[in-house]
Amino acid sequence: MNNIRLHVNVDHIATLRNQRNTKYPDPVQAAFICEMAGAHGITVHLREDRRHIMDRDVEILRKTIQTIMNLEMAATDEMVGIACTLHPDIVTLVPEKREEKTTEGGLAVLNDNVRASLKENIKKLRDAGIKVSLFIDPEIDAVNISKELNADIIELHTGDYCNAATCCFSQELLRLEKAANEAAKLKLTLAAGHGLDYVNVKGILHLKDLKELNIGHSIISRAAICGLEFAVKDMLEAISE
Ligand code: PXP
Repeated sequence: MNNIRLHVNVDHIATLRNQRNTKYPDPVQAAFICEMAGAHGITVHLREDRRHIMDRDVEILRKTIQTIMNLEMAATDEMVGIACTLHPDIVTLVPEKREEKTTEGGLAVLNDNVRASLKENIKKLRDAGIKVSLFIDPEIDAVNISKELNADIIELHTGDYCNAATCCFSQELLRLEKAANEAAKLKLTLAAGHGLDYVNVKGILHLKDLKELNIGHSIISRAAICGLEFAVKDMLEAISE
């Protein structure tokens, strides 16, 4: 039995809602069910374009989440202002591009401008008493820079591992293992996420001192299929009256 915590990302519920501008499905209700099912935390990404999670969601979630609220966001003035008012338990800083479907890679911490902006924003967030996690590629340099930047947590981007063809799979796993070992040496709390599903997650559970996983798409996708039987039965009941 390991003690790895699961933070469920409920952005995809909001995506479905926003496609029709309806009130349902509500990420707030989804978060509640995730917590009831034993999730250790709820992750939401407030994007600059509000394409899924919206301001109303984070405001209500802050009042209703009973576990840990992990707010993913870009390191911009607007987002840092929102976070300092909202006060989530954790802020995970991620790179953000408008045209991407989902976060495509870790923060470009080797870039001087990115590093300078991160440094300033990490300080503001930590001064406000918020733990800061940096979403980074599984590279030793990136882990070391995260430590220098005073991050509390690093979240290793598992996308390349999850997408790796059979030929490159062990190479991608090795990258994650080396980055995790470095994080353990530096006493950084280790999280991982992106693209993890019910099968590939098993391959990374041994990462040294892995404390937390952020998983969204595979869980919400399974809910769409496994929860469908109940949804149809409920509808049959509704129309039979
Ligand atoms: N971690 C980070 C930093 C992310 O940006 C995302 C996607 O929003 C996730 C984890 C979850 O990824 P997935 O939906 O593929 O499980």
